[in-house]
Amino acid sequence: MGLNLCRTPALYFGMNVKQALFGLSFLAPMLLTAQDVTFHSDVAPIVFNHCTSCHRPGEIGPMPFTNYEEVAAYGEFIEYVTSIGYMPPWSPDASYSHFVGENVLTADQLETLSAWVGAGKPEGDPADSPGLPEFPDGSQIGIPDHVLVMDEPYAHEGDMSEQYQVFVLPSGFDSAASVRALEVQPGNHNVAHHAILGLDISGTASILDAADPAPGYESFGGFGFNAESSFFGAWVPGALPVEYPPGIGRTIPAGADVLLQMHYGPSAAGETDQTAVNVFLSNEPIEREVYTAIMGPQHLDAPFVIPPNQVTSFHGTLPVTADVSLLSIAPHCHLIGSSWKVYATSPNNGDTIPLISIPSWDFNWQGYFTFPHLTKVPEGYTLHGEATYDNTAENPFNPSDPPQWVYFGEETQDEMFFVFIDLVGYEDGDEEIALGPGTDVCEGDLTGDDLVGVSDALLLLSEFGCQVGCNLDLDGDNAVTVSDVLFLLGQYGTTCN
Ligand code: HEC
Repeated sequence: MGLNLCRTPALYFGMNVKQALFGLSFLAPMLLTAQDVTFHSDVAPIVFNHCTSCHRPGEIGPMPFTNYEEVAAYGEFIEYVTSIGYMPPWSPDASYSHFVGENVLTADQLETLSAWVGAGKPEGDPADSPGLPEFPDGSQIGIPDHVLVMDEPYAHEGDMSEQYQVFVLPSGFDSAASVRALEVQPGNHNVAHHAILGLDISGTASILDAADPAPGYESFGGFGFNAESSFFGAWVPGALPVEYPPGIGRTIPAGADVLLQMHYGPSAAGETDQTAVNVFLSNEPIEREVYTAIMGPQHLDAPFVIPPNQVTSFHGTLPVTADVSLLSIAPHCHLIGSSWKVYATSPNNGDTIPLISIPSWDFNWQGYFTFPHLTKVPEGYTLHGEATYDNTAENPFNPSDPPQWVYFGEETQDEMFFVFIDLVGYEDGDEEIALGPGTDVCEGDLTGDDLVGVSDALLLLSEFGCQVGCNLDLDGDNAVTVSDVLFLLGQYGTTCN
């Protein structure tokens, strides 16, 4: 879809839609004459909104991109890493399904970056710059009711090793707590690469913690034991926490420990981290408890054993026994996993609901993906999970050299097959319930005035007949034609938010 920014304004952080559109409406003519493409008017809107959230001081990106000099210094490299889809990091195939916070560049944006580099990286007039978006310091969603902090800082060795450590955060709740959002607040973005949350009510995690001399305890794949919840939430850089709509939430049982598994990326310098988990309580009772359905090795068509020197695929199925509404999805495997696809099919196979496709799995960028709206899967459907594992010597991520027989397990050289699916029982109207910030902005609001009306129609018509590089292409067919006008009219009169 050409007009991503109207559909997912979350991508654009602090920039409002009008500013975004200002840059955009002038893009089409500029693309045709590369020498007119400048940093401030064309490149800054792309880089600041798709890259700078991670590429700024104190964040995980290795170099900052906050001004002309910093971006120009890496211009050719930026053109390269974006052209091959390596940056921005977004593993799901955006032509298969959409998620909150989707961060992908359009063909137009890629072309703009290339044209700018090709033209010698002209700076242009600073007055044209959209300015840096505001990046929230602390919570991205408000003031938490409770903050659970690692009780002491963890020292990363600075020996270029990947480190996986589980920290036990006692909730201290003496009665069950109803939670509408959990937010991981990394203590040190230089090394915090991703985090997975779990719950323990057995005290096992504390015992494992006591047995490990470092703060927390080491565990690569999961929590090292069968926890009450092995997937209570997750965080990767750039991701926004999931905020459940009113009436929907999760319960932290009285006295439970929240488990925080941190993946620390390699670092040459010693670093310390003290990450916190922000807890936001529900203002109203939870009527619909979020349940995590898990597709695992027991749902596979074959025993989960991966022979060496070959590529092996597995197909799992899980029957859907009641109408459900999906909130989030997270496939999980280890290092030799190479792709995932999850979908649901109707009993007669006449209907397929695409859920997620990850064509090139990267353990380091595994995410927890939230659908823009509650997504219904009817009773009688079947959930399918397909995963492929490349256990050849050609796979640079293969931890075993030469490749070995691989079995299910928690260690680095073991593999896993899990799809975590957060869901609630379906209720009428669920399809209308938005899950991400900004996802309730309606498609077709081209002028950014929060409604779809005559001004949008006029703007659309100004590009009517466009066949290449059209910026107001609403239906994603790369042209602005009668089908876009019909799409807009279908939304006409809609008030956004
Ligand atoms: C979600 C965080 C995030 C976002 C968003 C992001 N990056 Fe990165 N970027 C990283 C991290 C982490 C690394 C270093 C690790 C790696 O290479 O995977 C990196 C590395 C890079 C590198 C160096 C690659 C190398 O091999 O040394 C370049 C260049 C780069 N990013 C450009 C960009 C551009 C351009 C964008 C926006 C279009 C972008 N990044 C968006 C996190 C991010």
